[in-house]
Amino acid sequence: MMQEREVGQIVTHTVDMMNALSVRQFSLPPNTYIGAGAIARTGEAIEKCGVHRVLVLTDEMLEKMGLPEGMYRALNYSNIEYSVFCMPIGEPKSADVEAAARQAAESGCGAIVAFGGGSALDAAKAVALLLANPGTTVSALEDSTHILPRTMPLVAVPTTAGTGSEATTVTVITDSVRHVKRILVHDSLMPDLAIIDACLMLGVPPHVTAATGMDALSHAIEAHVASGATSMTQALAYRAISLIGEALPIVVGKGSDVAAREAMALASYMAGIAFSNAGLGLCHAMSHQIGAAYNIPHGVANAIMLPSVMHYNQLVCKKTYPEIGLALTGRMMDAAETIRCVQQLIVEIDLPANLLEAGARKEDFARFAEDALNDPCLTANPRTASKEQIVGVYLHAYHRAGREVRA
Ligand SMILES: [Fe+2]
Repeated sequence: MMQEREVGQIVTHTVDMMNALSVRQFSLPPNTYIGAGAIARTGEAIEKCGVHRVLVLTDEMLEKMGLPEGMYRALNYSNIEYSVFCMPIGEPKSADVEAAARQAAESGCGAIVAFGGGSALDAAKAVALLLANPGTTVSALEDSTHILPRTMPLVAVPTTAGTGSEATTVTVITDSVRHVKRILVHDSLMPDLAIIDACLMLGVPPHVTAATGMDALSHAIEAHVASGATSMTQALAYRAISLIGEALPIVVGKGSDVAAREAMALASYMAGIAFSNAGLGLCHAMSHQIGAAYNIPHGVANAIMLPSVMHYNQLVCKKTYPEIGLALTGRMMDAAETIRCVQQLIVEIDLPANLLEAGARKEDFARFAEDALNDPCLTANPRTASKEQIVGVYLHAYHRAGREVRA
């Protein structure tokens, strides 16, 4: 029988924990190298970890283009051996992630270096977690309540400015069998080191630059109004929005502009920290569904959903949207004009202006709404949403002004 003293301890601990419910945790990469030429520091960074062999996880296209060559030179200079796994083009699939984890285990590597866009970074984070939980799969990890933390160093080198994956505790992997997005959130998914070198981003084509840039903007806007937002995350989100407002049209129009690329790289990183700590919202919860079903790139899916989700959330964001408008344009404006400015930016950088242009089918919306309700991103949305309301937002995004705005 439980002693009176033990019962007292449990009651006291419960009260202590209830008092601590408002305590917020804030995490970011313990180390970041940022600036043109930073990639040359990769070797010395790995050396500091006491590791002599790494798995480099990149994608087929970047490897073919030779973009990782500067990093390979840096690794060779520091006598770091490396084994390369190239992910197929596209968003990371669980079967490829599990194959990469097998190669990592067989290669005897002591660290994972992710080099690429958000897909390569997300894949590498899942690989690192699989290595710490041998015998498991990506879908089993998502369902597990007891995930062992990552055991080897993780270095993230982004080559696009968008996901901010180099600064988050999140990874999104598409289930190869069920074609749904598996979202893993774990403290140990935060990379130990982010190496952000905008020179690696100079050759990113305009349509990828536009899509990834809109992903970063949707992170910053959702984080700014998320239920988990704090002054700290809003400071990062606000500055990210202002950097994107200025630099995104420039990098889409002139990809070789190093200063604008650096601004976007920094904005993506800041927005990543902001949303990793504050949460996202309905835009990501809804875009995950259309991305997986129609194979729409993540950033494009967010661009399609963002103005309609902002329209829906406007009811509870009358104070915060004008702040977003000011950050984005440098001008004072009301909530409605802020949404119009976001929509205008999407049209200017030539992304689909609505779900109709993206080839969506209205009959799918009820199923998407059902799945969006179960998406973990929804919990931080500032306005609650029912299945019917989410279908309404999909319909708004379907019928929203499109080609005529572009014309
Ligand atoms: Fe995203």
